[in-house]
Amino acid sequence: MKGLILSGGKGTRLYPLTYTRAKQLIPVANKPVLVRVIEAIRDAGVREIGIVVGYTAPEIREALGDGSRWEVSLTYIHQASPDGLAHAVRISRAFLADDPFVMFLGDNVIEDGISKLISDFAENKWNSQIVLKEVDNPSAYGVAQLRPDGRIERLIEKPEFPPSNLALVGIYMFDQHVFDAVDAIRPSARGEYEITDAIQWLIDHGHTVYPHIHRGWWIDTGKPTDMLEANSLVLEEIAPCLDDSAAVDSRSTVDSRVTLQAGARIVNSILRGPTVIGQDTVIENSYIGPFTSIYHSCQIRNCEIERSIILENSRVTDIDRTLRDSLIGRNATVKRSAEKPSGIKMNLGDHSTLWV
Ligand code: DAU
Repeated sequence: MKGLILSGGKGTRLYPLTYTRAKQLIPVANKPVLVRVIEAIRDAGVREIGIVVGYTAPEIREALGDGSRWEVSLTYIHQASPDGLAHAVRISRAFLADDPFVMFLGDNVIEDGISKLISDFAENKWNSQIVLKEVDNPSAYGVAQLRPDGRIERLIEKPEFPPSNLALVGIYMFDQHVFDAVDAIRPSARGEYEITDAIQWLIDHGHTVYPHIHRGWWIDTGKPTDMLEANSLVLEEIAPCLDDSAAVDSRSTVDSRVTLQAGARIVNSILRGPTVIGQDTVIENSYIGPFTSIYHSCQIRNCEIERSIILENSRVTDIDRTLRDSLIGRNATVKRSAEKPSGIKMNLGDHSTLWV
């Protein structure tokens, strides 16, 4: 069994963060989503992983290297343009050869990992296994319509009028027959080779596609609200841990669900978990509320923050309102200004949103 992670694409719905960074490298609970995907595949016993990359390839290579840090072997597969998930499978043929494989979208986060899915697929004679999840907004995803006996009737990509509320989760298992499918299909109306069309082709040509319905949570981290939701769910799951080199002064209160990474320093502050404070980040005279992840080398002074994600090297200081449900990028500064005339002053990136 091999793994295939899809990490190309543009990430336009996460602008402005994704102007300068691959969306799959944005951290959830201080760990890039892509690293969570690699760990989920490794924990299911799969060590040979291909990773499809596009124009953000240099950044992804720099972050992941050859994969040895996670005890996997990574092979990079370059996709010249994001022509669709089925196109990504097609260009990965030389790497995948005739081995069965699990394809995992590099921006998906799922509860409970994929070990059971992989063992079910290995033990059965299915040609493909897909994962479905009941959602409130099926139009945003590929959608499955099942027959009364539970088999798949049809799959449609982002339908305007969805025939069910069963969305396709970004985890798929295939044997070599998928290559006939990806060669046979044509681009969709939006110009992409859709994996839903390839799976439909398998069904229409008599191959067995088993639909597994996932009962835990699942997040496709396409939008900022999804990132915040994924962050909360993962923080809820992880075992808190205080690194030996983290320091908490006697005026601070840090509850039992807080994780402090190496060199984090907490001064005269209140921290309520689940929350994670990154390496060498300093929190001073502040309140950090539940479901917050502050990445490494940040400075937070004289503020209150709840249910937010702050990326590396950022400074948030002297803010007199609670900052909540916020996503702040790298090297950002949010501070109070004493300048007159008073007012709100900003240098916002393209496609930014500010709520006042
Ligand atoms: O997350 C589940 C959904 O993922 C499914 O329900 C849909 O059926 C499926 O089409 C896909 O929809 P998205 O609109 O979320 O796909 P997105 O363009 O965000 O791409 C998903 C991942 O695959 C992302 O990490 C980028 C990567 N990708 C995407 C394309 C189009 C590639 O590596 N190459 C590509 O050509």
